[in-house]
Amino acid sequence: MQITPLTSHTGAEVRGLDLSRPVSDSVRQDLNRAFIRHGVLTIRDQHLEPAQMLAAVELFGTVFHQHNTRFALPDCPQIHYISNQDRFPDGRRYIPGEGWHTDHSNDARPPKATVLHAVTLPRQGGDTQFANMAEAYASLPPAMQDRLADLMGIHVYQSSHSSRKLMTLPDVNRERVPNAVLHPIIRTHPDSGRKSIYINPIRIEGILGLDHREALPLLDDLLDHATAERFQYRHQWQPGDLVIWDNRCLLHKANGDYDMAETRYLYRVMLQGDVPR
Ligand code: SIN
Repeated sequence: MQITPLTSHTGAEVRGLDLSRPVSDSVRQDLNRAFIRHGVLTIRDQHLEPAQMLAAVELFGTVFHQHNTRFALPDCPQIHYISNQDRFPDGRRYIPGEGWHTDHSNDARPPKATVLHAVTLPRQGGDTQFANMAEAYASLPPAMQDRLADLMGIHVYQSSHSSRKLMTLPDVNRERVPNAVLHPIIRTHPDSGRKSIYINPIRIEGILGLDHREALPLLDDLLDHATAERFQYRHQWQPGDLVIWDNRCLLHKANGDYDMAETRYLYRVMLQGDVPR
């Protein structure tokens, strides 16, 4: 197995690994170390059926049960799909994952990681961008780091301030989803010990104790800073890619910039995380 960094701060490519076959304990440990170090692992040339994908992702942790089950694969419901072929009830096309976000931050224990496996890709476009929130935090002026140190974000299923709208939750899923949870705006990674900015424009409704007139511009400024190109790795999908990323220290977004007559379809699994601290 060869692991090659893709930028100086985020992303590494893994080659020479076949996840459809048993993986030794030492390879599993190397993969987990690389995941913590690089934040995004792109494992090339995998062709996994849903059950094989589940076994592969369990090398990194325990499957997280998604809040909205409408995208579950009927034969393997722990795996969901990402597709550009679904529509909102009013007929508009739904592009999952557009706009910067971190996954399911409205959960008390948000998923530590998300894994996508490419099944069908458009001929060009449809990249996934990642922005490194630990690098972004480290480059904030110390006065700003102090200002943010004790702030708590209020996360909900769908922020009323977000222009990106999610699919509504089916009634059957509502019970499991909290109305609102509080998470620190600056969190410390449980494995690396690095501090990161933890914001989510799609889910943050406000900041505890701050008026919206102060909180919303602060969140906008932070997002602008944190998603600067110098903190990014942009993933251009190749057939067979299996990509795992660390939601605790990255924002990501999908790009709906390709020909919608073509299908973009990927399998998706998230992995259980801890309470952010
Ligand atoms: C997601 O946000 O989980 C999906 C990202 C993508 O489709 O590139």
